[in-house]
Amino acid sequence: MWERLRIGREQMDLLKMIEFSVVIPIYNEDAEIRTRSKAFLSEIIEVSERCGGMKVLVTGGAGFIGSHIVERLLGEGEEVVVVDNFDPYYDVRLKEKNVEMFKRNPNYTFIKGNILDRELMHPIIKEVDAVIHMAAQAGVRASIENPRKTFEVNAYSTFQLLELCMDGDVKKFINASSSSVYGKVKYLPIDEEHPKEPISPYGVSKLSAEHYCRVFYEVYGLKTVNLRYFTVYGPRMRPDLAISVFTRNALQNKPIEIFGDGSFTRDFTYIDDAVELTIKCLNSSKANGETFNVGSGKRITILDLAKKIIRINNSKSRIVFSDRKKGDMEHTQADISKAMKALGYNPKYNLDEGLKVFSEWVRKNGIG
Ligand SMILES: NC(=O)c1ccc[n+]([C@@H]2O[C@H](COP(=O)([O-])OP(=O)(O)OC[C@H]3O[C@@H](n4cnc5c(N)ncnc54)[C@H](O)[C@@H]3O)[C@@H](O)[C@H]2O)c1
Repeated sequence: MWERLRIGREQMDLLKMIEFSVVIPIYNEDAEIRTRSKAFLSEIIEVSERCGGMKVLVTGGAGFIGSHIVERLLGEGEEVVVVDNFDPYYDVRLKEKNVEMFKRNPNYTFIKGNILDRELMHPIIKEVDAVIHMAAQAGVRASIENPRKTFEVNAYSTFQLLELCMDGDVKKFINASSSSVYGKVKYLPIDEEHPKEPISPYGVSKLSAEHYCRVFYEVYGLKTVNLRYFTVYGPRMRPDLAISVFTRNALQNKPIEIFGDGSFTRDFTYIDDAVELTIKCLNSSKANGETFNVGSGKRITILDLAKKIIRINNSKSRIVFSDRKKGDMEHTQADISKAMKALGYNPKYNLDEGLKVFSEWVRKNGIG
């Protein structure tokens, strides 16, 4: 039986050494492979699920993580459709810029619309091979102010998109979940089996979406993957996140405000590492039906983070403390061994490097 698969160069070399596999490279990373079965192949290599070019829907693709995923997919020659409603949760000019930079790419289609609009989404989903679902009402604090919106955009929308996928030929559905599903921390680092007791409406909405993804895989066979991102940062990041606020204030020598005493800890994930694991999940059959933490595996106190940002930017900012906010987890630190073992995930950026790249980006692009 002949299979046409996309595999890496190393995997191709490995296969060539196996007697009963015949590998005929076609171009770049595509190869035709004669072997017993795909199942047999997957024992030797990570079988790619991609056959030639893919058409991928990225919901929320005008946002921070989504726009980086779009950039990576376009760079790999894939066709990308983005649906984003430019939600005004933060300055929409940032989202417009994220769309503008790809507009001239013939493989890029941008549709301004609401993912909750079933009539809009149905024909789009019918046409795509995969969905990377990034659109959400992000943010714990926003969910405390408006829990209904968070439920509708995060939980209900995910259910509806999954339902629409059943009427199409979607081969993979990647769901952006969050470390917030864990809530009350029982131990560190947090592995995927850690109890899930969210402490904010945001965490609940993400956990609910995860369960729908799992059940659609188990009951209907839709290949879903849940990715629990641990605070992602880097160029184009959301301006409401601590690293962005601290850096912009540091660059202006303004006070840096910490909620609480600064002893809370966070695992910060550099955007390129988060994108890398997301794309690995898109391509690998080993991710189907699975849930993975997406983190760096390290943690730092918020106070040390603020000091680091002040030092990196030679800033004169003072640190000031105010009341802690409800809904914030006390500590996060991802156990990333599952993704490392299954998918060869290996985060490359340490916090110092990532913060320097981000500070440089803010300097070039304006404080905002
Ligand atoms: N950034 C992080 O640290 C982090 C951590 C954990 C999980 N996540 C999750 O990752 C995903 C991406 O996060 P982000 O930081 O890029 O957020 P983001 O706010 O920058 O991106 C989300 C995008 O979704 C769009 N959107 C919102 N509601 C929509 C709707 N009804 N219809 C269409 N588009 C809509 C927004 O306009 C925005 O462009 C989200 O699901 C978020 O919950 C992010």
